[in-house]
Amino acid sequence: MYSGAERAVVEWMHDLAENGTIHFDEAAEEQAFATLHASAARLFKCRPEEIAVGSSATELLASLAWAVAPTAGSNIVSTGLEFPSTIYPWARVAHHTGAEVRLGDTKGDYPLADDLIGLIDPGTTVVCVSDVIYTTGQRLDVAGLAEAAHRNGALVVIDATQSAGGIPIDVGALGVDALITASYKWLCGPFGVGVMYLAPHLHERLEPGLVGFRSHERMWDLRADRLKLPPNAHRFEFSTMAYGCASGLASSIDYLLRLDVGRIFSRNKTLADLLIEGLRERNAEILSPTDDAARSSIVATRIADMDVRILAERLNEAGIVVSARRNVLRFSPHLYNDADDIQQALTAIDRCLS
Ligand SMILES: Cc1ncc(COP(=O)(O)O)c(C=O)c1O
Repeated sequence: MYSGAERAVVEWMHDLAENGTIHFDEAAEEQAFATLHASAARLFKCRPEEIAVGSSATELLASLAWAVAPTAGSNIVSTGLEFPSTIYPWARVAHHTGAEVRLGDTKGDYPLADDLIGLIDPGTTVVCVSDVIYTTGQRLDVAGLAEAAHRNGALVVIDATQSAGGIPIDVGALGVDALITASYKWLCGPFGVGVMYLAPHLHERLEPGLVGFRSHERMWDLRADRLKLPPNAHRFEFSTMAYGCASGLASSIDYLLRLDVGRIFSRNKTLADLLIEGLRERNAEILSPTDDAARSSIVATRIADMDVRILAERLNEAGIVVSARRNVLRFSPHLYNDADDIQQALTAIDRCLS
């Protein structure tokens, strides 16, 4: 009845409810993230020990922000167009330490790479941005940003929630220091889990902001008078969690990798192009970049003078799943969609307009 990520989550929960810890015993709990470490490593083209698992992208970002803890006199660079969770953890730490948060221009719909690079100086501790902006789907030149950041001695942290699973990612080629993603968007995983890539040079340098019994290198040691962190990214894993969600995410990543994320991206862009063509015929404004370097497969639009929230509600009622984000209507065609779905979306828009 169940398959993929759903099956992994439900089977884990069912086993725990029926058998307690007979199967999910201490050894199993210790190994609970091993499959996801391996799957996420294949997804990001890195090694399993460079992956940390947490309960959400925000949790991992928060722990990382406290680990880096930019001090007074230093600054954190990002854009004003980020999803709040990408910035709030840094802002919280900065509030505590007195560091400065520098956000690029917030007036337009697009962060400009040159603006961002202009904010970076030798006082910058970290540049934290999304590689794909959640509203318009604009892709930033992460490798270029990383180069500018590293020239100034700053770390680069990427929120890949809007790209992972929909766009191929190679953390080595991008030159990022950390990359974090939620599970439930393009990765098609369950809520309740997120993953982080952490570059080896940070493994022994960073002390996680969040620690717990799982943080000790031998988690069943259970002695409160000592804490020796593992010498790798696993040091950011600190607690029990809804472990079935980790297995669920591993299962969906494996599925996407079997299909090939590069092929998924090409196909999604073809669907996005069909949608853009139809929207243009209806005089809609297309906010998403369409040039190859800056585009994803997100299509953000504004149609006539219609309130995007009302439009999103009406489309959702018609079975067309879209989001209103800030002042744009956002479509995210993915592997489960086809050209007929795009046509249905356009027909539903026509009904809303008439
Ligand atoms: C760019 C971005 N980062 C982070 C999140 C939140 O992730 P999580 O719910 O795993 O904390 C979202 C959710 O929409 C997002 O779009």
